[in-house]
Amino acid sequence: MGEVPLNDLGRGVAALAPALRSAIDDVLTSGWYVLGPQHDAFEREFAAAVGAGHCVGVGNGTDALELALIGVGCRPGDEVVTAANAGMYTTTAALKAGLVPRFADVDPATLLLTAATVEPVLTPSTRAVAVTHLYGRLADVGPLRELCRSAGVALVEDCAQAAGAVGTDGPAGSLADAAAFSFFPTKNLGALGDGGAVTTGDADLAARLRSLRQYGWSAKYTATLPHGRNSRLDELQAAVLRVRLPHLAGWNARRREVVARYAEVLGEGPRRMVHGRDAASPAHVGHLAVMTTPHRDADRAALAAAGIRTDVHYPVPDHRQPVLAGTTGGVSLPVTERAAGQVLTLPCFAELTDAEVDRVCDALRLL
Ligand SMILES: Cc1ncc(COP(=O)(O)O)c(C=O)c1O
Repeated sequence: MGEVPLNDLGRGVAALAPALRSAIDDVLTSGWYVLGPQHDAFEREFAAAVGAGHCVGVGNGTDALELALIGVGCRPGDEVVTAANAGMYTTTAALKAGLVPRFADVDPATLLLTAATVEPVLTPSTRAVAVTHLYGRLADVGPLRELCRSAGVALVEDCAQAAGAVGTDGPAGSLADAAAFSFFPTKNLGALGDGGAVTTGDADLAARLRSLRQYGWSAKYTATLPHGRNSRLDELQAAVLRVRLPHLAGWNARRREVVARYAEVLGEGPRRMVHGRDAASPAHVGHLAVMTTPHRDADRAALAAAGIRTDVHYPVPDHRQPVLAGTTGGVSLPVTERAAGQVLTLPCFAELTDAEVDRVCDALRLL
């Protein structure tokens, strides 16, 4: 019996190999490799899928976050409020843009930012709040939007883990001033390399983003906007994403099933799935199947002995990252810090077989 992998990208590629090969072949023969017809079609199709007026393809999800923050008006020295339990991506983007990250704690039940956790961290220097739909579960964006509106700050969604999630007020990517997506291969909608996008309902912001992703040009060879760079989604990745996008809803449904099975086995005891209660909700797309356990090292070892691969998302909170040493010493985030010692990620991807899910469930029962 082999191991149950945390993820296996090869299976997803194999399942669609003829369509992917044909799409790649079309790009090879088209003579367009960057910002061509595949890219334009993907931007239109993804904007429609997300229910946003505009989609701007960029090079990766971290650039998408950085450009979204600059696009909504953040300037060097401004503060951005974000969570510290989401893998350092928003913080990396903020630091790159010369912004100051301010960390809010997360809700103990969902490990997501809420209006109640963000509000105490806002200051007169706050220019934006960035909310991550962690592990593929939509945050409660409505109250955050209200809070940001009354404070006069922008709201940015990090949808890297939540492509296809739909809440009561709309899909991930349509809920804030701007939203960042990653198409890194492990994402629910993944490319075969790096890729990303920003979605927004604001046509002026979309135009600024198109300029920022290409040297700050207002016209070819005329750099007008500050903070421009080169960050574009190439034709090959756009073509791959166009093949995959129609499958996203089905894959997300399977991911929900997997998380629901684990949640059923663990229940609500000392070990439980972080988003178990919402596992079947359309607002959850099971990007990562994360449990919490007071005995992580022992549980990881027992699962490894049973041939189950696991990982930790994420072991080091942003405010404890070495790169921020000396700047965040006084920051205390009790929920975030406790969770960093207890989260454990189980195998979850659309092509995981029933037999593999059964094996994980059997091993969970023995913990
Ligand atoms: C929540 C989150 N935000 C942002 C990113 C950054 O995306 P990328 O790796 O494409 O830069 C990732 C994934 O890597 C992510 O999981």
